[in-house]
Amino acid sequence: MSMPAPDTDSAFLGRLEEVLASSLPPEQGTHPTLRAAMSHALLGGGKRLRPMLLAASMRLGDYDEASAMKAGAALEMLHGYSLVHDDLPAMDDDDFRRGRPSCHKVYGEAMAILAGDALQALAFETLIDAFSAAGIDPHRALSALREFAVTAGPAELVGGQAADLEPQVELTPEAQVSWIHARKTAALIRCSIVLGARLGKLPEEEIESLAEAGLLLGLAFQAVDDLLDEEASREELGKTPGKDRELGKRTLPSAIGREATRKRAEEMLEQALSLLPDREEAESLRELSRRLVHRRF
Ligand code: IPE
Ligand code: IPE
Ligand code: MG
Ligand code: MG
Ligand code: MG
Repeated sequence: MSMPAPDTDSAFLGRLEEVLASSLPPEQGTHPTLRAAMSHALLGGGKRLRPMLLAASMRLGDYDEASAMKAGAALEMLHGYSLVHDDLPAMDDDDFRRGRPSCHKVYGEAMAILAGDALQALAFETLIDAFSAAGIDPHRALSALREFAVTAGPAELVGGQAADLEPQVELTPEAQVSWIHARKTAALIRCSIVLGARLGKLPEEEIESLAEAGLLLGLAFQAVDDLLDEEASREELGKTPGKDRELGKRTLPSAIGREATRKRAEEMLEQALSLLPDREEAESLRELSRRLVHRRF
């Protein structure tokens, strides 16, 4: 059997954009401004790293493009919603995202909030469809959906965003940053890899190491996001640099310095790579992991 094309190629991303576009609710019967705001948040930008991670992880087992794309779309919906809310004036107050005005700058705050809400619900609907399409046993599908819900909720993504806004004074600055990074960002990166592994029907022991690797990669990814906020330009980032400092955010560079942050990100990457399965099928996941940490935007 010939090896499938790598997940990082533009063909995969092109097909994913089509799936994302067709996953929006139908024009007929959907409020037009809400739909336009959802479309702004979901289409036309973004590195699509989470779907690529999911697909690379699924390729370790039984790969089926239709369900990989659907589940990838679900991840982008959840991620896209989190960015729309993250940019709101009440949160990071960011006017610029993915090289364009943020959702609330185009559609207003109320519609941006609703577009985020709608994308989150649509993410669950889409993930359910992905598990059905892959023919996953309903018990296993339910527990994977539960993992996705936990990742999206107060224990993980939303909890991390809360701590990002309001300091936990009982913790040291570095411990606060780890707490925040693990939840607001690394949880969804880990979940992307785990969902891929579940869709690919990998054995449980392999999924455990992949989950551990995913968390480390997510932590390294957010460490780099914090560095780029200090070091990259608006053109490179497609978002406003210097925001973290302006808002007095607890970031890894502010807690331990830039050099130590860079070193930490490299160490976490190496540790993650050592946890990936030692077989040829893991090459695209290895390559993607390096790209996640060695990116310039
Ligand atoms: C930005 O994520 C928000 C974080 C969790 C750091 P990405 O850097 O993946 O954003 P897009 O999807 O490529 O715009
Ligand atoms: C955002 O972290 C994390 C989530 C949206 C869950 P940041 O606030 O650092 O992301 P950017 O830098 O605005 O993309
Ligand atoms: Mg934020
Ligand atoms: Mg932000
Ligand atoms: Mg940031």
